[in-house]
Amino acid sequence: MFQALSSDGGALGSALRWGSDGLILQLRIAYVYESGLSSLDGVLLAADFFPPVETACRAAGMALVSRPHPPALPHGAIREVLPGIHLVTGTVRMAMPPLRFSRNMTILRDGERLVLVNCVRLEEAGLASLDALGTVTDVIRLAGGHGMDDPFYRERYGAKVWAVAGQRYTAGADDRARDVYLEPDVAMAPGTELPVPGARLYTIRSTPPDALLVLDRQGGTVVAGDSLQNWVRPDNHFNLLARMLMPLMGFVRPYNIGPAWLKDCKPPPDDLRGILALDFANVLPAHGEAVIGGARDHYRSAIERVSSG
Ligand SMILES: [Fe+2]
Repeated sequence: MFQALSSDGGALGSALRWGSDGLILQLRIAYVYESGLSSLDGVLLAADFFPPVETACRAAGMALVSRPHPPALPHGAIREVLPGIHLVTGTVRMAMPPLRFSRNMTILRDGERLVLVNCVRLEEAGLASLDALGTVTDVIRLAGGHGMDDPFYRERYGAKVWAVAGQRYTAGADDRARDVYLEPDVAMAPGTELPVPGARLYTIRSTPPDALLVLDRQGGTVVAGDSLQNWVRPDNHFNLLARMLMPLMGFVRPYNIGPAWLKDCKPPPDDLRGILALDFANVLPAHGEAVIGGARDHYRSAIERVSSG
């Protein structure tokens, strides 16, 4: 039989699998972000440490329809990386293994409007800085493993939530779970008119889907979900364990294709190769440093490598 456990607000969810003899056979950390949202990156990290099992939460009918907003975690200052485009680097914490590392939110300014991509909840001082830039009107989710902070921004600003068609806001590691904690306002697909002038969506048919937001700014600028990453080195949001392990696991290298995302979400090679047909000079990744200038060429060898099989 299965037994599912979850602590308050989804701070940590575990799935215990019991054998017919009543002994615990396997333990899987179902929620890996301390705040309760599953991260596909994180899940795979966890899976590297624990034997994979089927998701017991779904089998047990565990439901989490609504929940408190995850707390704000430490983050850096909002910085302008291109004209009208700001980036802020925040934190992800995994419950098990206890890794802490960084993630980015991109802020696109259109006059007084602000569109947030790959949302990261900011602390009060950060929110004041955000408010000084303009008014948040929309949030865009690109990665299936991100989105935990979208409800916070919808509630605080009344922002419209845009997610890639096929993505779901589930509270656990299983994106097929029955219940969701948020329904997006718009399910984006190629051709969807987006809330950013001159932007279009390039979708990647991974499971769950991922996408790139392609902007016609500064020679072409791509905001990426979990596909295009660029951790050149561990930054100051990595804890000691992450500094030790993540380089060894292939996460910390320039112009990288998210290794856990590749392994777990299985993007079609054609969709990966298609990235090279896009016209872009800059990449603003959800993980790592901004790539300003020559980005498509920088990523070319990695994309060709992972899409050749
Ligand atoms: Fe990620």
